[in-house]
Amino acid sequence: MKGKFITFEGCEGVGKSRQIQLLEEYLIKNGIKYYFTREPGGTEISEQIRAIILDGKNLAMTNECEALLYAAARVQLIKEEIEPRLNRGELVFCDRYVDSSLAYQGKARGLGYDFIKAINSYAFNGFMPDLTIFLNLSPEEAFKRKGGADIADRVELSGIEFHRKVYEGYLELARENPNRFSVIDASGTKEQTSGKIIAALKEKGII
Ligand code: TYD
Repeated sequence: MKGKFITFEGCEGVGKSRQIQLLEEYLIKNGIKYYFTREPGGTEISEQIRAIILDGKNLAMTNECEALLYAAARVQLIKEEIEPRLNRGELVFCDRYVDSSLAYQGKARGLGYDFIKAINSYAFNGFMPDLTIFLNLSPEEAFKRKGGADIADRVELSGIEFHRKVYEGYLELARENPNRFSVIDASGTKEQTSGKIIAALKEKGII
């Protein structure tokens, strides 16, 4: 039996973590079994790779190295957790996936989509989600709502210009993959956004 694989994407500060929390509450309340994981991370090895990538001291890290580390963390997570669970028919959610690499490293860091697609397809052979929930909110709106930048790690230190490009990247990916992407307007209240996510999952027959 084949399970279902759903990913969450969005720029910094769009309320992704909160939305995932609300979705989990809904799934639990309705007795729907699921597995939630996150990227980069989700396995012991991938969490170690995450610590290297997000370490503020690693300013010398090249863009190529960063992209390869994300791909390395991802392939470990796929092989160790995602693929076996899908083979057992489970419902698997992942906070970020390869679209993050395409938007952040491919578009915003300028490595290009082809480079990201190439290293990732080499690592895991086009293992793609059934549905990608993209929380659509521009970085300007997100930062405004947050009341200033959360500059806790190296990635978030990159500034608004970088996040603009990430956002443009996501919009391009959503346009290129209309069947896989569900674009959710995240400008309303957290309850409104949560309702839209649940509706999209129902509409696609996921829950
Ligand atoms: P995290 O603290 O989990 O942020 P968020 O709550 O926004 O998901 O940090 C993950 C960071 O890693 C985030 O800034 C996006 C970035 N990232 C990439 O640049 N490329 C990738 O392939 C992935 C998975 C994440």
